Amino acid sequence: MTPGLATMARVLGIPHPAVEAGSADPVVIENLEKVYDAEHEDIAVRAVAGISFSVKSGESVAIIGPSGCGKSTLLHILGCLDRPTKGTYRLGGRNVAELDDDELARLRNQHIGFVFQSFNLLPRMSAVENVELPLLYAGTKRAREKAFAALERVGLADRATHMPNELSGGQKQRVAIARAIVTGPSIILCDEPTGALDSKTGREVLALLGRLHADGATLLMVTHDLKVARSLQRALHMKDGLIVADGPSAIVVDAFARTADEEEGAPTS
Ligand SMILES: Nc1ncnc2c1ncn2[C@@H]1O[C@H](COP(=O)(O)OP(=O)(O)OP(=O)(O)O)[C@@H](O)[C@H]1O
Ligand SMILES: [Mg+2]
Repeated sequence: MTPGLATMARVLGIPHPAVEAGSADPVVIENLEKVYDAEHEDIAVRAVAGISFSVKSGESVAIIGPSGCGKSTLLHILGCLDRPTKGTYRLGGRNVAELDDDELARLRNQHIGFVFQSFNLLPRMSAVENVELPLLYAGTKRAREKAFAALERVGLADRATHMPNELSGGQKQRVAIARAIVTGPSIILCDEPTGALDSKTGREVLALLGRLHADGATLLMVTHDLKVARSLQRALHMKDGLIVADGPSAIVVDAFARTADEEEGAPTS
């Protein structure tokens, strides 16, 4: 079943198995909830409070919203780093709730590259060893060669044997991006990828992510930088664990900026 047929069926409104099952989209979530400390009612936090959306192959999506609204929680679930309390998440057509931890790790390794604000490199491993790690977990052959190739792709071949503490912030983030893409994932999830970088280095990292997207990767990025959010195709605005707006980034981001201005300008009682 090709995505082309599924897309055509969607456009024409014709029932089609792939459309009905939503399997043509790499990320499909329905009524997703994440409650931290659910067993203790007095301290339970409903970080994600019942949200549904899907992401099409090759889309670039910004996730915006105030601090504490659930952006990282959502991204961690999408990255299979955490499991939802309720609802369903289909990644590449598989319902992640039906997978055990090993199967989930394999699915993640196959589909997802994750880029964190704070890089999360292992300090005692060189750049190339950090990049190689997901390949070793997956049992991939010629791991070292592939890790070098990924470093070359992010323009860091000449720093391959450096330790993380010998690299600048931007270089560390490029190593982290090389690690994220080395398994050839179709989806790249980024949580504030430029949050720890100065603006020039941040622009370089964004340009690199932009090139990966242009090469076909699906990109989901949590960002506080509204200019960055506007540069992606679509934006999800989160508030109190819910998605309160979802659409073309120019529209969603401008509306969000207006409400943020109003809240800031509102008189305090
Ligand atoms: N491990 C945890 N245990 C309990 N509560 C948590 C945990 N992680 C996050 N939370 C709570 O869940 C809510 C959502 O947190 P989350 O980190 O997803 O927010 P965010 O939108 O990413 O915020 P920021 O923009 O500051 O990074 C917050 O109220 C937070 O305190
Ligand atoms: Mg966060």
